[in-house]
Amino acid sequence: MGFTRRELLELGSAAVVGAGMMRAAEKVFEAPAPAATPAGKGGKLAEALAAIGKWVFLAPTKFGGGAYAMDLSTGKTLAWIEYWNYGDTNPISHHLAAFPSADPYNGFEFVNSTQGGKNLFVYGLPTPVKEPGPGFNIYRVKYDGTHMRLEENISETTGLGLGVHVTIAPEAESFGVADGQKDVAAIFDRHSSKVLACFGFNWEPKSSNLKEAWTGGGKMTMWRMHPDAASGKFDLRGTKGCKTDWEIVPGGELLIEDGKTPGAAPHNVAGSDPWIFDPRGRWAIVGIRLAGVGIVCDRQNNYEPVCAVSGPKGSPDIYRLKKTGNESWEIEFDRVLSPVHEAGFSPDGRWFLFMNTTRQNNVAVFDTSDPDPTKWKKITFVEHPDWKGTYPNPFHLMFSKDGKKVYCSVWYPPNQPSHLAVIDVATWKVKKQIETVGKDMQTICMTYDGKFVLAVFSGGQQYESGIFILDATTDEPYGYLPSPGGHHDCVIIPRNLDDLKNSRSTTV
Ligand code: CU
Ligand code: CU
Repeated sequence: MGFTRRELLELGSAAVVGAGMMRAAEKVFEAPAPAATPAGKGGKLAEALAAIGKWVFLAPTKFGGGAYAMDLSTGKTLAWIEYWNYGDTNPISHHLAAFPSADPYNGFEFVNSTQGGKNLFVYGLPTPVKEPGPGFNIYRVKYDGTHMRLEENISETTGLGLGVHVTIAPEAESFGVADGQKDVAAIFDRHSSKVLACFGFNWEPKSSNLKEAWTGGGKMTMWRMHPDAASGKFDLRGTKGCKTDWEIVPGGELLIEDGKTPGAAPHNVAGSDPWIFDPRGRWAIVGIRLAGVGIVCDRQNNYEPVCAVSGPKGSPDIYRLKKTGNESWEIEFDRVLSPVHEAGFSPDGRWFLFMNTTRQNNVAVFDTSDPDPTKWKKITFVEHPDWKGTYPNPFHLMFSKDGKKVYCSVWYPPNQPSHLAVIDVATWKVKKQIETVGKDMQTICMTYDGKFVLAVFSGGQQYESGIFILDATTDEPYGYLPSPGGHHDCVIIPRNLDDLKNSRSTTV
C-alpha cells in the first residue's frame, strides 16, 4: 500500500508531523522507479563527452566513504553509494572491481574493499577522531539501472576483513581480495561468497635491527588458512590480525623500516597486496611488497603455490618454494634488493610486469609465454632517467587494448603532481611521459574499444582530485572530468570476459 506522488505532496503540505511524516517517508521509497536516464541535452561539452562513447566509469571515493558510477558519454553520475548510510562509521572505500555486464547502463555488480580504520591517520588530516571505526569491510554492491544498493558485507559473511586490492578472476566466477596489514590473501566465490582459497604470510627477518629487516634478508613463510569448522567463518574481522596500524602507503615501502609505520609487528610484514590473474586462466599471482616477490598459484590445483617471481633487478628470476608441511611453504632470502608493488599481465598473458619501487624504480618485464611458470624469465627492465632516487615510483599500470603499449602512473608524494608514462612494448622503452597530470595518481582504466585511457588522481585525500582522460590513438591529453573523491582505484564496467582482460583482473 503506497502513497501516490500526489498524495505525498498533499501530506507534505498539510500539518503532518511525527508518525504521519514517518509514514510518508517510508512510502517515498515505494514510488515507482524513474524512467531510464535520458541522454541529456546537447552543447559543446556534450559533444566532447559523447565522443568518449557509452561507457560506465566506476570509482571508490576513499575518505569520501563510498563509490559512484558515471556515464562517460554525458558526464552524469548514474548513481552512488555511501557506506556510512548502512551503519559503517568509517568506510575508507579503497579498491574495487566490477563483474562484466552486457548492459552496464541497466545493471552491474561490483566488490569494494574498505581499508583498516586507522588509515584515517595516514595523510595528516587534523581530525579530532581518536578511535576510528575498525574498517576492513568488503562490500558487494549492485546497480540496477536506477539505484546503487548494498547487497552484502562479505566480511560479515565470511569473517574475513580484508581491505586492499580487489580483482575479478578471468571467468568472472570468483574474485580475489588481499590485505597487507594482516598479510592475508583470499579468493571468494562470486555467487556464494564462500572462501575458495586463503593464505597467510609472514616475514621473519634475519636482523633484529628494523632498518635491515628486509634488506638484510629473512624467511617468508606462507600457509593455507581455513575457517573455524564449527562456525564456518574466519576470525579476522576488524583490526583482528593486524601487524601494523595502517597500510604501507603508496611509495611508503621504506617508511616501515624507518619505524614510521606503527603497529604490533611491523618487522613481520611481508606485505601481501594484490591478486593478479593471468588471463589465460591457470595462474594467479599474489604480490608481496616487502619481499619483492609474487607467489604464483595454480588455479587448477586449489591455488597451490608453485614458485615465486622476483621483481628486483639483480635478484633471481624465480624463487623455488620449499614445502614445509601439507599446507605450508617458505622462501629464504639472502637480501631483498627492492620492494615491489603493483603488477599486471598483458591481455594475452604473454608478459607480466612487476613494479620495483623505492630502491630501484624500474619495471621488471617477465616473458610468461612458457606454460611452466618456473621457466618464466625476466627479460628486461623499463627504466627512465627521471625515475631515480626514492621517487618517483612507476606505479599502477594498464595495457592498451592491442597489447602494444603500457600506460603507467609515475607517482610522486601527494603534494607533487604525478606523471602518466606510455611504454612501448616492442622496445620496452618509455615513449612518452605526460607530466604533472594530477596529485597522487592511482589506477588506470580504459574504454574497451581501446580509444581512451583514464587515470584517477586522489590528491592525498585532501588536495586536487579528478579523472584525467588520454586519447589513446594519439596519446595526447583529451581533458579532465571532475571527480570529488580521494580515489585509489577506478574501472570501466566490462561488458564481457574479453573486456575483463583489460580490466581490474589482470592489472592493478
Ligand atoms: Cu597496491
Ligand atoms: Cu590503495
